[in-house]
Amino acid sequence: MHSKHSSQINETISWVGKWTFVLAAAGSAVGLGNIWGFPYKAGTEGGGAFVLIYLLCILAVGLPIMMAEIIIGRRARKSPVNAMKNAAIDSGKTSNWQVVGWSGLISGILILSFYSVIAGICLNYILISASPAADVSSVEQFGIVTSSSGRLLFWHSIFIALNILIISAGVVDGIERMVRLLMPMLFILMLVMVINAMINGDFARGLSFLFAPDFSQVDATTFLRAMGQAFFSLSLGMGSIMCYGSYMPQNENIFKTSLTVAGLDTLIAILAGLAIFPIIFAYGMEPGTGPGLVFVSLLSAFVDMPFGNIVGPAFFALLSIAALSSAISLLEPSVAYFEEEKIVSRFSAAMILGLFAWFIGIGSVLSFNDWSDISFIGNLNFLDSIDYLTNQFLMPLGGMMVAIFAGWFLKSNLALDELSSSHILIFKIWKFFIKFISPVLVAAVFVYQLVS
Ligand code: PHE
Repeated sequence: MHSKHSSQINETISWVGKWTFVLAAAGSAVGLGNIWGFPYKAGTEGGGAFVLIYLLCILAVGLPIMMAEIIIGRRARKSPVNAMKNAAIDSGKTSNWQVVGWSGLISGILILSFYSVIAGICLNYILISASPAADVSSVEQFGIVTSSSGRLLFWHSIFIALNILIISAGVVDGIERMVRLLMPMLFILMLVMVINAMINGDFARGLSFLFAPDFSQVDATTFLRAMGQAFFSLSLGMGSIMCYGSYMPQNENIFKTSLTVAGLDTLIAILAGLAIFPIIFAYGMEPGTGPGLVFVSLLSAFVDMPFGNIVGPAFFALLSIAALSSAISLLEPSVAYFEEEKIVSRFSAAMILGLFAWFIGIGSVLSFNDWSDISFIGNLNFLDSIDYLTNQFLMPLGGMMVAIFAGWFLKSNLALDELSSSHILIFKIWKFFIKFISPVLVAAVFVYQLVS
């Protein structure tokens, strides 16, 4: 019913439930970045010090840019390309600003391509942690999984297929229905994992690791990583939030919803740390092991833990759910564009773009094995190159452009209209940040990165 309606008059697509925007945007934000990325980065970058810097980035840069994206998306009620174009034209500026939207669509597909490979490993780990092989160490286990391109490809394909299925069902019947189911599940599973860490882990040590700042490990790159992590984690700079914002009903308060989404995202990242580090410490492992923290260290803790064959699968199911609700927001902006421009139907768009991401993802599959020695950007393998290109380059650049546009080019009364349900003071503070603080901070990090 809805999807039929929505494919006729695109302007009328809107979330039905009052909380759907928050659920969908939190679904986009909360993902591998929170549960897999945040803990291992906090682990290698000085624990509490990293957490503190991260919080600053969320407030000074993330929140204002998130609001800007929603403002631009909602007033146009169109996909990011056309939303940027409309906002520019209505402010009397060149329609070339739509490149920001284009860069978002491209980043979305690129991120999806490798995100899906890692999410596929999470899916596989649901089974592995349910019946871990007795004579195989968790390091060896990870090697077994990643050395088989057939196995990685299989799970990558399953994950992409799930995305195509959800996205082709439509904004309301697909995305809205899924996030209303997945997000409460995610939250409950997360609480179960934290309670597990209180019972089976060294909770006090986990707490002090996450909250007692150790500034000896902090240097310029810590800021860089924290900023990159904040962008990635809030799904900013690439159109996901702008696109979801375009489905936000007019009477919802942009400031409050953004604050809620950023708050939930941060809460889940910290809860993930509290679920993981107490276990890592209790089982005598190192917190700073990097990307393998979840797949190697945590798996071996699950093997030794009472009921580990239940807790383990629950954890990897949590990770998979979080990844799925993020991945659909990577595919939606470009599908929305195809549908809106009447290039093809939503179903065909989801198929074409999903398969395209699947195809690029094969490079990331191979970078774990056959292509592991082949460098693409600098000395980075395929997966790391795409990750670098999107996470360290396109996303911060996209976010900076959104901030510069919203701060300096977007007509004030257009933004004010969208923020009208908030106090005028909110508008003034937002305007100050988006004009002077956010773009300068992103630019500083960005330039530092390019020169180093
Ligand atoms: N925010 C997601 C995460 O933390 C990743 C993501 C990035 C999703 C950009 C959508 C857009 O895992």
